[in-house]
Amino acid sequence: TGRARGGEPASGGPADSPFVRACRRQPVPHTPVWFMRQAGRSLPEYREIRAGIPMLESCRRPELVCEITMQPVRRHGVDAAILFSDIVVPVAAAGIDLDIVPGTGPVVADPVRTAADVERLRPITVDDVSFVDEAVRLLVAELGDTPLIGFAGAPFTLASYLVEGGPSRNHVRTKALMYGAPEVWHALCGRLAEITAEFLRVQIRAGVSAVQLFDSWAGALSEADYREYVLPHSTAVLTGLADTGVPRIHFGVGTAELLGAMGEAGADVVGVDWRTPLDAATVRIGPDKAVQGNLDPCLLFAPWPVIEAEVRRILHEGQAAPGHVFNLGHGVLPETDPEVLTRVVELVHDLSAR
Ligand code: CP3
Repeated sequence: TGRARGGEPASGGPADSPFVRACRRQPVPHTPVWFMRQAGRSLPEYREIRAGIPMLESCRRPELVCEITMQPVRRHGVDAAILFSDIVVPVAAAGIDLDIVPGTGPVVADPVRTAADVERLRPITVDDVSFVDEAVRLLVAELGDTPLIGFAGAPFTLASYLVEGGPSRNHVRTKALMYGAPEVWHALCGRLAEITAEFLRVQIRAGVSAVQLFDSWAGALSEADYREYVLPHSTAVLTGLADTGVPRIHFGVGTAELLGAMGEAGADVVGVDWRTPLDAATVRIGPDKAVQGNLDPCLLFAPWPVIEAEVRRILHEGQAAPGHVFNLGHGVLPETDPEVLTRVVELVHDLSAR
């Protein structure tokens, strides 16, 4: 499924799928749906295949990545696959000693807090992440018409893990660096933007149909600070990919006050958490972008009639935007009953069939 001249997607194949069409604000036969963290611990088949293999090691085995990525597609019939990987994979490839600790998250051996520390982050090339290139190529062949989403962490969220040395509630050291040594902060985010952009380009060259930039912790910032310290770097990543023609999704949590600014970074689609209704989000983002979201992941633990009413509400509110990709407002929680996820996919498809 190559591209016709002029960057228009050829008909058929993943470029003509409901998911990619919704990202491009084109008419769709039904509202497409996928779930952030759809591949992972909510699935017994995932827990089984991952048993005894550390997380980062799993990300470096293309055949395993392929199988784990396919699991939720087979089980739930979602409209898109998301590559099984992690936001810290390119940072590890750039020379930072880190691990992903079960139940905790990424842990960095020597946190990055000075100009000299920033020098430890070197640029990456495809050779540093050849396992990702290989996994994407395997997946594109196996997925057929189902699109594959590539992803990366945004500079702020990556910087938070590097500066704090691990997960953080208040991002105290991160903000201390940002306010106290802005030139070091901008140097760090500049390098992270380059690493992220190259990591996404590797995935795009290997054939992903869309990319999502995860700025999960951006909601910790005021709009003014977001605009000064973060937006230029996320914009460099997203606008730097404009020439690829691949739709770009920009996502964060707790970003009600940042939605307008996040839209300005150059994405085609803005991801919205459950705190902001999609029609209100569209007013903030502007009328020319698609939205993605936004069922509260905790809602999946409610009785089915409650879930059904929420799905109806979200589909209705999503009509305010020129394109809607149904998703959760953040990732699937490990305790989620996977059968409920399958039912949500069916419900979204049934209710939105045009
Ligand atoms: O969405 C998917 O299905 C694709 C896979 C994916 C993973 N991580 C796999 C993973 C994606 C898109 C990510 C992105 C990611 N990683 C983000 C941004 C998305 C978000 O949730 O906000 C962040 C902040 C991370 C950092 C990270 N890695 C955390 C917080 C954790 C969880 C730690 C824990 O054990 O609670 C990880 C590890 C991780 N990444 C797991 C998975 C499936 C769990 C590892 C395991 O199975 O033991």
